[in-house]
Amino acid sequence: MARMIIAGNWKMQNDINGSVELVSGLAAGMPAKINCEVVVCPPFTSLETVYSLAKNTKISLGAQNMHFEDSGAFTGEISASMLKSVGCKYVILGHSERRAIFGESNDWINKKIKKALSSGLLPIFCIGETLEERESNITFDVIKKQVVEGLKDITAAQMADIVLAYEPVWAIGTGKTASPAQAQEVHKFIRTLLSELYGAAIAAEVTIQYGGSVKPDNAAELLSQPDINGALVGGACLKADSFIKIIEAAK
Ligand code: PGA
Repeated sequence: MARMIIAGNWKMQNDINGSVELVSGLAAGMPAKINCEVVVCPPFTSLETVYSLAKNTKISLGAQNMHFEDSGAFTGEISASMLKSVGCKYVILGHSERRAIFGESNDWINKKIKKALSSGLLPIFCIGETLEERESNITFDVIKKQVVEGLKDITAAQMADIVLAYEPVWAIGTGKTASPAQAQEVHKFIRTLLSELYGAAIAAEVTIQYGGSVKPDNAAELLSQPDINGALVGGACLKADSFIKIIEAAK
């Protein structure tokens, strides 16, 4: 069985003060018993501080992006070893905002996934179709291309360390969630594809998160779908109480 992971993607939100407030609120309000792993992904500038406040709690740390080179003249970029050195366990790779706004290709994302794995970071690899692609009935083609190209040369053993996040682009930050049935249909397609690529046993173990306007009031129904193993949450993770309600919805 795939493990349940609820991750909060803070995006470009929260300076140090806001980050301290949010992680402190999460740590204080975390229920004694939870049925999932909890990950927060603050901006780079807050990683070290959030790590120091979260390290003795149930909250794990993730980053929102990284470069695939080890070091060098790459102004403005952050390497995998830098993320490791401030306590990151996870790194979000291939988020649709990175693809659409910053032009990241499947090839770049593949290089990043390989570097993350060889550096001991667990990738949260994001995929998802745009509204135009969904309306043109090419959702499955788009997802397949993103998965196959993003995971090029990834072995079955490595696949066990990768988390997938299915995030329909039309549902991100729009308040428009995919219906549980719509999300489950794509999650099932992804798991079948993983099964073809890596075998059924590995495919069954891979956590596939759903992302796109996950909120306290829709989380339980989404998370109860058989192939949905967690959530990647944007807007609703920025307040401790709403993120905790989503964590509590994970059964
Ligand atoms: P949202 O963002 O929950 O605000 O839609 C999700 C994401 O982009 O990961």
